[in-house]
Amino acid sequence: MRKNYVKIVLDLLLAITFVLLMNPRVFNGLPFHEIAGVVIGVAIVVHIGLNYRWVINTTKKIFAPELPRKTRFSFLLNILLLVSMTTVIASGILIS
Ligand code: HEM
Repeated sequence: MRKNYVKIVLDLLLAITFVLLMNPRVFNGLPFHEIAGVVIGVAIVVHIGLNYRWVINTTKKIFAPELPRKTRFSFLLNILLLVSMTTVIASGILIS
């Protein structure tokens, strides 16, 4: 129950930070953007760690016919999200 609370708070912070990152001039400009960009990368790793069991269980059953289509779709969406976030953060660090 407490873990769920931590997950919800972390996910809310991730969503708010992501929206703020869409404008690199928000708050005091680039310094906030760069720090928040790196922090969101760490928070994503924590998010995956907190949902580790779902990742393992879904990966094992990804081709199983009994796996709901919605779960398979979520899995694919999460992979694409991970790839795009990694690319955005890595390219942000490179152009910084
Ligand atoms: C999820 C993470 C991030 C998101 C969503 C994000 C988003 C953005 C967006 C929307 C822009 C504006 C692009 C444009 O004007 O065409 C931008 C620019 C930029 N970002 Fe990020 N970014 C992220 C992470 C980072 C990180 C980690 C760094 C560096 C440590 C970084 C450094 C920069 C720099 C240097 C610019 C160029 C600013 C300028 O136009 O002068 N970003 N970012």
